[in-house]
Amino acid sequence: MRFDSTVIALTALASGCAGLNIKSNEPAVIRRDEGLPIYKNASHSVDDRVKDLLSRMTLEEKAGQLFHKQLQEGPLDDDSSGNSTETMVLKKHITHFNLDSDITNATETADFINIVQKRALETRLGIPITISTDPRHSFTENVGTGFQAGVFSQWPGSLGLAALRDPQLVRQFAEVAREEYLAVGIRAALHPRVDLSTEPRWARISGTWGESSILTSELIAEYIKGFQGEGKLGPTSVKTVTKHFPGAGPMENGEDSHFFYGKNQTYPGNNREEHLLPFKAALAAGATEIMPYYSRPIGTNWEAIGFSFNKEIVTDLLRGELGFDGIVLTDWGLITDGYIRSQFMPARAWGVEYLSELQRAAKIIDAGCDQFGGEERPELIVQLVEEGTIAEERIDVSVARLLKEKFILGLFDNPFIDASAANSIVGNEDFVRLGRDAQRRSYTLLTNKGSILPLPKPSPSTKFYIEGFDPAFMTERNYTVVNSTEEADFALLRYNAPYELRNGTVEAEFHAGSLAFNATEKARQAKIYSSVPTVVDIILDRPAVIPEVVEQAQAVLGSYGSNSEAFLDIVFGVSKPEGKLPFDLPRSMDAVEAQAEDLPFDTENPVFRFGHGLEYYQPMVENAQITLAAL
Ligand SMILES: *[C@@H]1O[C@H](CO)[C@@H](O)[C@H](O)[C@H]1NC(C)=O
Ligand SMILES: *[C@@H]1O[C@H](CO)[C@@H](O)[C@H](O)[C@H]1NC(C)=O
Ligand SMILES: *[C@@H]1O[C@H](CO)[C@@H](O)[C@H](O)[C@H]1NC(C)=O
Ligand SMILES: *[C@@H]1O[C@H](CO)[C@@H](O)[C@H](O)[C@H]1NC(C)=O
Ligand SMILES: *[C@@H]1O[C@H](CO)[C@@H](O)[C@H](O)[C@H]1NC(C)=O
Ligand SMILES: *[C@@H]1O[C@H](CO)[C@@H](O)[C@H](O)[C@H]1NC(C)=O
Ligand SMILES: *[C@@H]1O[C@H](CO)[C@@H](O)[C@H](O)[C@H]1NC(C)=O
Ligand SMILES: *[C@@H]1O[C@H](CO)[C@@H](O)[C@H](O)[C@H]1NC(C)=O
Repeated sequence: MRFDSTVIALTALASGCAGLNIKSNEPAVIRRDEGLPIYKNASHSVDDRVKDLLSRMTLEEKAGQLFHKQLQEGPLDDDSSGNSTETMVLKKHITHFNLDSDITNATETADFINIVQKRALETRLGIPITISTDPRHSFTENVGTGFQAGVFSQWPGSLGLAALRDPQLVRQFAEVAREEYLAVGIRAALHPRVDLSTEPRWARISGTWGESSILTSELIAEYIKGFQGEGKLGPTSVKTVTKHFPGAGPMENGEDSHFFYGKNQTYPGNNREEHLLPFKAALAAGATEIMPYYSRPIGTNWEAIGFSFNKEIVTDLLRGELGFDGIVLTDWGLITDGYIRSQFMPARAWGVEYLSELQRAAKIIDAGCDQFGGEERPELIVQLVEEGTIAEERIDVSVARLLKEKFILGLFDNPFIDASAANSIVGNEDFVRLGRDAQRRSYTLLTNKGSILPLPKPSPSTKFYIEGFDPAFMTERNYTVVNSTEEADFALLRYNAPYELRNGTVEAEFHAGSLAFNATEKARQAKIYSSVPTVVDIILDRPAVIPEVVEQAQAVLGSYGSNSEAFLDIVFGVSKPEGKLPFDLPRSMDAVEAQAEDLPFDTENPVFRFGHGLEYYQPMVENAQITLAAL
């Protein structure tokens, strides 16, 4: 007797022990006198469950596991922006998705993810879905490579955590982020980024931990442990994807390999080893998943093709030399051309552009990768196996790695979450307070001429000229804002680190190009500095080249994703800046261009070095403790 697999799966779920016995490659058949299949029975070992499940899977079902695609919150049958969720889950057997929507209501998102899980349970084998996400906790103006924090607690970006030099804080951040992710059903973090910011122009430095391999290694070990919780991967973990192997910092001319003109990565300082150090630290901390970058290396003995296509990188270096046996997930869109934010984006098949889609897929598998990010082409894998280009056993190796993590994460035993609890966990008062505290503390005091900061609490007659933030933040505090510097007693300016706006809609979200303000802007700012004592906050999503600001402004602060409340709390001494620079601030663009892309700390005569950061109330007497306590 044959049953509709939907009914069987749901019955099994509802009763907890309904008889299920599924023969390989055949629809499920109920035998009520027998127990659960091994893979659904939590008393069996993970290895046995993986083996059992793999033996039941069709080639198509296996191929589906090898894809990790964007998922939009909304109706499952909505195909207005591509293949619907339903098509991907039911027809393509895809079970890994990165949630690509803003989260504005945690309970609604949790409900949505539960609905997706329910639909997945209704498939023949009922393989649960793993939901991943890009970072969502940074208070950031550069939304291209991360989301606005939305309902999640808001923290400074990773550079801000790096500025605080505090592994325990990083651990705490990761624990909070883990709880918030878990509450909505997100089980995989497409982070941390452990690339070293050795090339100051690179547009993706925000999201790294700065220029030091030692600091990065120390902090990300705690980060990974915090996301895992409990010391190892388990049912309350969020797994992390450490990226981008073998270190994406050394971008030729500081361009980015999302784009064809930025495809080259280069090592003029012959410093490949140092970029591997954070990955070694990540592996030692229990990292189970790694993502190679889009770039292709030039001027090395490595083949000049994108890292995910590169067997020397994935198999020889990562799996061989570094002994990694976890999952290798490629970056998004290596096979298929497509559109991102309505901009045409060719597949990032750098160095192998001439290969067909089928050949690209084969080369990535052959290089040793397990899963294709941002793609939904299981038919290519099926074709490769059927043609005999790739052995099914090779596919099995990758599928087993991927399934193993689903079992370890407990998804087979309970894929659902308590959606009603989500809104009380996500963005709760304690988490929000911790995040705001870190936003304030990470402020880095670069200069403070005449100890102008902190400003005394203003009287109603004190007048402020402001730029770069909403005057409402001032008026809420009953501070007076004026429209011209002539009338003002102080100017408060919040600026993004300089960048050049590029043409494309995707490029618009990357802060690339020159790190210096242009001549017009320098002249405009100079007028402000010469007419009124000015405090400048530079949002250091990249190492700004601002010697003139340092010279002319009365005080300069650096921040890494902090809201305007935090800024004003620092300016008026409600809290103290504690951050230390996570990278050097170069002196000039000539100095930037002269330095080697792969070497840290080689910029000539920087304005400030890594580690610079003044304090308020610099002790005037020998005994600093007493002075600070007295204040
Ligand atoms: C699960 O497996 C254990 C160990 O083999 C067995 O004793 C038990 O009956 C199984 N449970 C179900 C519900 O099949
Ligand atoms: C939808 O699926 C088909 C078949 O796999 C694929 O060719 C196409 O690129 C997919 N569409 C999108 C928007 O990804
Ligand atoms: C979030 O969504 C739930 C379920 O739809 C709803 O009851 C609740 O009012 C929403 N909360 C907010 C803050 O919008
Ligand atoms: C990348 O490097 C190659 C080899 O040095 C060079 O020919 C090419 O112009 C560089 N830039 C791009 C965008 O390919
Ligand atoms: C601002 O002034 C109003 C009216 O005098 C007062 O009620 C309020 O508490 C003040 N706010 C702050 C932050 O001082
Ligand atoms: C500043 O300018 C705005 C609009 O130009 C105006 O509405 C406002 O009254 C001015 N404020 C002061 C204090 O002059
Ligand atoms: C951007 O557009 C302008 C004007 O259309 C053009 O001159 C320039 O070359 C473009 N820049 C790039 C990097 O494509
Ligand atoms: C100079 O920089 C300012 C501020 O970043 C920008 O608005 C302006 O368009 C730039 N001017 C030129 C000529 O690039």
